[in-house]
Amino acid sequence: MKLFDVYPLWDIEPVRGEGCYLYDKNGQRYLDFYGGHAVISIGHGHPHYVQRIGEQLGRLGFYSNAVRSSLQEQLADKLGRLSGLPHFSLFLCSSGAEANENAIKLASFDTGKKKVLAFRNAFHGRTSGAVAATDNPKIVSPFNATSNVEFAPLNDTAAAAAKLRTGEFCAAIVEGIQGVAGILLPSAPFIHDLRELCTACGAHLIVDEVQSGYGRSGKFFAHQWLGVEPDIITVAKGMGNGFPVAGVLIAPRFKAVHGMLGTTFGGNHLACAAALAVLEVIEKDHLIDNAADMGAYLTDRLRRLQGVKELRGRGLMVGIEMSEPVGELRRRLLFEHKVFTGASGTHVIRLLPPLCTGKQQVDELVEALTRAANV
Ligand SMILES: Cc1ncc(COP(=O)(O)O)c(C=O)c1O
Repeated sequence: MKLFDVYPLWDIEPVRGEGCYLYDKNGQRYLDFYGGHAVISIGHGHPHYVQRIGEQLGRLGFYSNAVRSSLQEQLADKLGRLSGLPHFSLFLCSSGAEANENAIKLASFDTGKKKVLAFRNAFHGRTSGAVAATDNPKIVSPFNATSNVEFAPLNDTAAAAAKLRTGEFCAAIVEGIQGVAGILLPSAPFIHDLRELCTACGAHLIVDEVQSGYGRSGKFFAHQWLGVEPDIITVAKGMGNGFPVAGVLIAPRFKAVHGMLGTTFGGNHLACAAALAVLEVIEKDHLIDNAADMGAYLTDRLRRLQGVKELRGRGLMVGIEMSEPVGELRRRLLFEHKVFTGASGTHVIRLLPPLCTGKQQVDELVEALTRAANV
């Protein structure tokens, strides 16, 4: 059997990771400013993470959600404390799309309504509801396409108000920072207006923090920079540092009913051990403060780079919009300077390094970018 060829691949195979670096089989080192697509939060191969998952595997790797799991309770407790949302509840699942799917379902169950307001250029995942709320017709199959989702431009209060005021919407879903779109930030006035509109119109505010959450922005959640409290928050990527685990954080006003949500793998013992190890390292190593500090240092250094049209982002979620297409520049960064970066569209380099990135790694990146851009 061969692989179903849906991913355009770089011809490189990392076989080992340590901190902010990856290594191929020849021992060649690569600086990771992509974080495996914002997934690597505490760094590759963190000893505490390796030990905690290993110990758990030796005891019990999996049992079903039909029995009590004190690991799930510990995780909910710690996540509530570190995120500043101890009054929320947690539903555990395994991917970002699944988290958004359940968030939308919950909003719909609670309100009895079926429409969702999403925003231009949004990406929420590839399962049915999540992809319908994703503004990319190329990945929406005819089966997924639905008139239940409507789009408005980001940061356009009047457009959002015109839709929400019909009273037909169960939710508005917005990314904490739009990632795939090119690191686009919702403005504070817009998010405050959206919060008020949702409340006034009987809709729930869902903030998708799958990419921007878990400390990446320099606060636990990117929306916390804007001072609003959503009804539902979704998390994944950095939550497990590579172990597939995701969550839906649910405000106290929702009533749980047995059987309304469910999953086989969500919140299994290994996933909880991974997610607990991540939170323990984030707390002990002050990685959220580090993301804020290193983000400021990084953007300060990048500002002086030639060819930069605009710098956007918060913390260690940074978009560098260049005047020219970035494909060749990223290829040179990877193959000649051994640096992994991400991209959004044709002109934006997307930086999503591990949250333990230090000044040395930032300096290495800036040096590589300067040399790669000046050929
Ligand atoms: C903002 C956002 N939401 C949802 C998803 C989907 O997550 P997953 O690929 O884990 O389903 C992504 C993935 O890139 C994302 O960036």
